[in-house]
Amino acid sequence: MQGQSLQPFPFMKSDTLTADPIYQRIAERVEGLIAGGTFRSGDRLPSVRALSRDWRVSVTTAVGAYSLLEDRGVVEPRPRSGYYVSARRLSPERLPRGNEVESDPVEVGCAEITEKVMDASATPGIVPFGAAVPADEILPSAKLAALYGSVIRSAGPSAHQYSMPPGLPALRFELAKRLLGSGIAVSPDDIIATSGAIDAVLLAVKSVCEAGDVVAVESPTYFGILSMVRELGLKVVEIPVFSDRGLCVEALAEAFASHPVKACILQPNFHNPVGSVMPDAEKRRVVALAKQHGVTLIEDDLYGDLHFSEKRPLSLKAFDSGDTVIHCGSYSKSLAPGLRVGWIVPGSRYHRIKSLKYATSLANATASEMVVAEFLKSGGVERHLRKARRIYARQTHEIREAILERFPGEIRVTRPEGGFLLWCQMPEGFDSEAFALAALKRKISVVPGTLFSASCGLRNCFRISCGFPLDDHSRRAVGILARLAEG
Ligand SMILES: Cc1ncc(COP(=O)(O)O)c(C=O)c1O
Repeated sequence: MQGQSLQPFPFMKSDTLTADPIYQRIAERVEGLIAGGTFRSGDRLPSVRALSRDWRVSVTTAVGAYSLLEDRGVVEPRPRSGYYVSARRLSPERLPRGNEVESDPVEVGCAEITEKVMDASATPGIVPFGAAVPADEILPSAKLAALYGSVIRSAGPSAHQYSMPPGLPALRFELAKRLLGSGIAVSPDDIIATSGAIDAVLLAVKSVCEAGDVVAVESPTYFGILSMVRELGLKVVEIPVFSDRGLCVEALAEAFASHPVKACILQPNFHNPVGSVMPDAEKRRVVALAKQHGVTLIEDDLYGDLHFSEKRPLSLKAFDSGDTVIHCGSYSKSLAPGLRVGWIVPGSRYHRIKSLKYATSLANATASEMVVAEFLKSGGVERHLRKARRIYARQTHEIREAILERFPGEIRVTRPEGGFLLWCQMPEGFDSEAFALAALKRKISVVPGTLFSASCGLRNCFRISCGFPLDDHSRRAVGILARLAEG
């Protein structure tokens, strides 16, 4: 493989316009060659000098590209020898298989241990593999503290008044600019600020559905979505999600043809818990299908900014020239969950959703909106995100490796390209609820698969959060979990 040229593709117009640093583009290209099989596990990669010559960049830039790939666990340096494709990079056959679902609508069940698991995830002293939140060290706490101080001082009492729907203009202005990066071109007046993504999804669902209606949800999906649809008295058809391409569009087409589905709630980018991204072609297909059947798609895109590779995946809304997709998002995973800053792009349901917002939660946290608007305006958010993405890529890789090393050989684990969640699948018969309860006794939280299933299936699966680093303590915890899994 040595001597293989890594010359860039001829520059296209979009390349010359991109503001992404060149080392990221080089890393992307090398990673693409590895993914495509040009370089295999254990292969020596072109030297730093060759890379610098081929790309006409400095040696420092070439080293930067390899360092980025090292952070992602894709390559490893060997002293006095150069960079190699990580020998421990695992083959795709260790990824979870798709799961079976009921084809008829069901009422959402409630796993009995939900409250226990949720309480444990927020309890200090517990190893928090169950909590889908960034570690304290990753939060931009110092920056946020400074911003809170300055905005409160300069805004005076208005920082403590209600921020009524649609939310502060300064925030919506910055959000409109940022949404362009997800492929969504809207004006600030097309956005309503919300208290996080869950508020946005709730408003969207309420604007479309009434009790007794049928909604399509992914299987697995985030348990907050399942609790919501249960509390709203909706029935669900479950649509399988694949780790390599997200929601199964064929199963969705079948559900649309067989049941009176009003809406479909989906996470097209870095899905919780599977980590999948729908390819653009699938996004386009799902929007066309929903349009054809008059079904509203409610997209929850709060992990989309946490991509490990160069580019943010496009939102579903980017493929909607009409009014099929309601887009929802928040800064809970990418900045800090306690900010409670989210948004919705409601399209023609704007006035209905604004009125629902008044009726359900009235207003948002004003100072938080001011802080996020200022953070976005200063460009600091992108800086923070670059760092967070690198950390999550490393943590996710390291924790995945530790699981594969320590757990029984039959385990399958997703390999996400963004976010910080791993979905683990054990053989049929494994009881993830008993496993989670046993883990809690050892002061470790994990979330059993049943919480992610409307019909309380997926008992052989569990979710591990990598919002936290793999230090000695959490490494020991992986060992304990592995022993518990062995039974
Ligand atoms: C898919 C998904 N949607 C919504 C939420 C809640 O987001 P927020 O804190 O912004 O309300 C979460 C939190 O884990 C989530 O994973």
